[in-house]
Amino acid sequence: MSSGKQMNPSSAFFLCSVLVLAIIILLLAVLWKRIKPLTFMSMWTGSPGGSRLPDYFRNNFRAFCHFDCNTLKKATGNFQQKNQLGTGGFGPVFQGRLDDGRRIAVKQLCLGKSHQGECEFLAEVRMLTSIQHKNLVRLIGCCSEGCQRLLVYEFMKNGSLDNILYGDNDIYLNWKTRFQIILGIARGLQYLHEDSNVRIVHRDIKASNILLDDRFQPKISDFGLARLFPEDETYLSAQFAGTLGYTAPEYAIKGELSEKADIYSFGVLTLEIISCRKNTDLTLPPNMQYLPDYAWKLYESSMLFSLADPRLKTDGAEEADILQVFQIALLCLQSYPNLRPSMSQVVAMLTCKTKQIASPIKPAFLDRRRCINLDISLPFSRESACDFSPSTISDTLSLPPRLSIISSS
Ligand SMILES: Nc1ncnc2c1ncn2[C@@H]1O[C@H](COP(=O)(O)OP(=O)(O)OP(=O)(O)O)[C@@H](O)[C@H]1O
Ligand SMILES: [Mg+2]
Repeated sequence: MSSGKQMNPSSAFFLCSVLVLAIIILLLAVLWKRIKPLTFMSMWTGSPGGSRLPDYFRNNFRAFCHFDCNTLKKATGNFQQKNQLGTGGFGPVFQGRLDDGRRIAVKQLCLGKSHQGECEFLAEVRMLTSIQHKNLVRLIGCCSEGCQRLLVYEFMKNGSLDNILYGDNDIYLNWKTRFQIILGIARGLQYLHEDSNVRIVHRDIKASNILLDDRFQPKISDFGLARLFPEDETYLSAQFAGTLGYTAPEYAIKGELSEKADIYSFGVLTLEIISCRKNTDLTLPPNMQYLPDYAWKLYESSMLFSLADPRLKTDGAEEADILQVFQIALLCLQSYPNLRPSMSQVVAMLTCKTKQIASPIKPAFLDRRRCINLDISLPFSRESACDFSPSTISDTLSLPPRLSIISSS
């Protein structure tokens, strides 16, 4: 016989619940003390770092990570030389791997006195967090700590197009792949100019800014110079920024910026992809040095096919297909911006949705040797048109005053 009074089941349940609740509260209190609130936020937002989200991407932080410097140091082996993929006008780029296994490319911007790197950083973050397309590189996140400005991109296994076309490697791109690259770039530009919710001019379309993934799908990169464009404007007056060999004359000379400047650069790039040569090569005989000029001369004498990379000819590529893309490239190089097709027209021509392709007229291009034709005051730049190497020119520096616009003869 038991003398003690037994607790009824509902009281026992109540007591147990109170006990469990107390333990949970205790645990939470301990955790709250040990892990900083920001880390909770970064767990919530998926951000692997723990630093405060700066204002400029607060609206977009769901799809975007803010890394702390140590995470990126670890991922790149403390920015070791052996992990360096290349160096651009704004600083070195390193490859790395995050703890979750993702491969990344980290661009370390050098902050100059003129805040150049800072501007590029902000422009790239703003631009790439508001747009998304399969032919645009994806910005995974960034880091802004002290004077460090780091941009974190998805890693592109096949690097940049310039390395493949002109680099010291054995990679040969057949016609199908080259066409796929040209079409992909055209689609990326069509999206920027016409299809995204904002109208964007890239301003620095060139071979080194086209990255290739593991299947050689192209992705347009480097949005540091890109400009948002008001819907109702035909062109903006802008200080020149870009790379001379790819620059539309009306933009370099008069600072008239519109989508047509990108379309001109696309024309130059397309010629480079098919011919596998750089837009300017001063080691060649004078009549061959400027690619648009040389292409036009060959077009006039019905010998344009001879400009194609000789390897394509032995590879079974159809002459008519190659000539058609050459012709589209020449249309993009017309002197008058209005005569250049829009990017959607280019895509339609490339995909044969347009039956008849117009005949191009003489292209215009900038000649860095013959600087005697026109005396024009320029609003720009880091390089002289007479003495330039094909690298990026910044907005902020000022420059010499003479440049010639040549309509090829
Ligand atoms: N996401 C990436 N994946 C793989 N490699 C990359 C990536 N981003 C850049 N690279 C490599 O880093 C190099 C340097 O790139 P960066 O854009 O800084 O310079 P650039 O394009 O040569 O010159 P510019 O400053 O004029 O754009 C590229 O040529 C490319 O080989
Ligand atoms: Mg680049």
